[in-house]
Amino acid sequence: MNDGNSDGIKIVAVLGTTRPGNFTAKALALVIDEIERQEDIAVDLIDPATMNLPLPGSSPESAATKTIQEIVSKATGVVFSTPEYHGSYSSAAKLIIENLGFPSVLAGKPVALMGVAAGQIGAIKALEHLRSVLSHVGAIVLPGPVSVAGVRNVFDDDGRCVDEAVEKMVRGVGTNLVEYIRGHVCPRVALEEMMRRGPALDWTPPESEQAAAPQ
Ligand SMILES: Cc1cc2nc3c(=O)[nH]c(=O)nc-3n(C[C@H](O)[C@H](O)[C@H](O)COP(=O)(O)O)c2cc1C
Repeated sequence: MNDGNSDGIKIVAVLGTTRPGNFTAKALALVIDEIERQEDIAVDLIDPATMNLPLPGSSPESAATKTIQEIVSKATGVVFSTPEYHGSYSSAAKLIIENLGFPSVLAGKPVALMGVAAGQIGAIKALEHLRSVLSHVGAIVLPGPVSVAGVRNVFDDDGRCVDEAVEKMVRGVGTNLVEYIRGHVCPRVALEEMMRRGPALDWTPPESEQAAAPQ
């Protein structure tokens, strides 16, 4: 992964399952790879299988809770992935959301969504439910969530995607988020910084322009 200490754009990729050998991680790896092609962007992964996230409200001061809140607070944007489990998004994804605080550190963050499902209908219901909850906590959920249907036929045993069209669609989750950030978040942050520093007050036009300026 690109260096997480970068002062540039920081993206957090959330893996919404702990199922061993899950296919969500295979799809998310493509999104991360796509984002990391851009050298000024660092990606952090939140993998709930490697954390000991407490049940909602049971241990708000836990180290894992603090860690994910800190990571997401610093993020410029988030990719949220989930499998479709029982007609919705996973409980692991919900546990991550519960641990991001109330109010949530996701508030105001652009979030791109991706869902995968074994079934042919795809992860439509998971994505709709996830969109609803993430909007509720104040995230800016980007349009165009990507749903991968029949995901178990899309990756080989080595985790390689065997369907070019699906791979393009999945990688698009990353490019859409980055385009949104470059087009909307970065200019806003730069403007805020400029307003704070007030360079316009110190700025003098180059001599050529001074001469041309009306008296
Ligand atoms: C608890 C559970 C519930 C599931 N429910 C659904 C479902 O409602 N619809 C569906 O298409 N697949 C369902 N699946 C299959 C997953 O979509 C499948 O495991 C797929 O590979 C994506 O999940 P993964 O990231 O765990 O691999 C379910 C799997 C589990 C473990």
